[in-house]
Amino acid sequence: MPSAADHLRAAIQAAGGQISFAEFMSHALYGDEGFYTRESDTGRAGRRGDFITSPEVGPLFGAVIARALDNWWNQLGRPEVFTFVDVGAGPATLARSVLSSEFECKPHLRYIAVEISAAQRAMHPTGIESVAVMPTALTNAVVFANELLDNLAFELWVYDGGWKQSHVTTDGDKFVEVLVVQEPPACLPTSAPHGSRAPVLTDACNWLQHTLAHLDNGVVVVIDYCSPSTTMIAHTPWREWLRTYVGHERGGHYLQNPGKQDITVQVLIDQLQAIAVPTTVRTQEQFLQLWGIDDLVAQGKRVWQENASAPNLAAMKMRSRVSEAEALLDSAGLGAFTVLEWQKQNLSARDDSSALHHKSQ
Ligand SMILES: C[S@@+](CC[C@H](N)C(=O)[O-])C[C@H]1O[C@@H](n2cnc3c(N)ncnc32)[C@H](O)[C@@H]1O
Repeated sequence: MPSAADHLRAAIQAAGGQISFAEFMSHALYGDEGFYTRESDTGRAGRRGDFITSPEVGPLFGAVIARALDNWWNQLGRPEVFTFVDVGAGPATLARSVLSSEFECKPHLRYIAVEISAAQRAMHPTGIESVAVMPTALTNAVVFANELLDNLAFELWVYDGGWKQSHVTTDGDKFVEVLVVQEPPACLPTSAPHGSRAPVLTDACNWLQHTLAHLDNGVVVVIDYCSPSTTMIAHTPWREWLRTYVGHERGGHYLQNPGKQDITVQVLIDQLQAIAVPTTVRTQEQFLQLWGIDDLVAQGKRVWQENASAPNLAAMKMRSRVSEAEALLDSAGLGAFTVLEWQKQNLSARDDSSALHHKSQ
């Protein structure tokens, strides 16, 4: 069966000998036999997969999101039908933990998991809507994307006496870079150290623009590893912000082994801001604390202590909240991720204090 590399070679030939890096990344991750789309051994989040995301740490993250959902539902005027769109849902682990939590708006919740990969959609649980493409015309909705934007295809630019766009061609079996002189996008700094590189997040920015355009009365929430500015990233060695992963380890060069390794980029806040200025920007640590992670951990400790002499599965799960919280709040890891929120129309004044009034779970 042809591999992702074979499909890429055919695409390069069909395009006349070269494609942009963005097209290369898109094929390598989402094309035929791509990292996320191949049927066997598909790239996936989770302990047995290639990377661990916050939902995969354990059910605590979903329990906090359930509390945040009650807040957003209240802000949106407690609609009868309240839609949560989990975009780039992977195997939908977040859905399992949100739906196993107790929260006020649960009877009103319509949970839609959007996942491009059929192999990942096949793992989705019952009780949710599982789709390949974002629904349009969303109303009374929260659109949520955890570690999606870092995985969307981006242009790669190289400063070589001026900005040139990185394209990819073939040299025998290998994929190699060619630099193409083009008008640089406005987000790039006017000059940079010779040889420096910078990403232009075309697909992430298009996704945000499209999502905001199709959302009426709702919130867009993006959680990812972010850096503040394109200028700053252009002064940072590219290996620090253009990373590959396979089986929980850093992978090889981004042009090697297409389809066999993940390709990710640091998300640039200034480029998203140029589409729309976020309503709030917090760290994941601040976000989880705002929505009561400390209460949930204290409750976990209490339940564990009450049952320590004859622990059951439920008590063990409660005890694991302590170590899950450590991972989720780690200021050198997931806790340092950025949470960006864009609110759209009809929202009543924020009522962050409602976090204090939630029923314990
Ligand atoms: C890093 S994983 C994150 C999975 C999950 N959100 C989590 O936090 O565990 C990114 C996921 O986004 C999916 N994805 C990428 N582009 C997408 C798109 N345009 N629409 C829907 N899903 C997409 C990938 O297939 C992959 O499963």
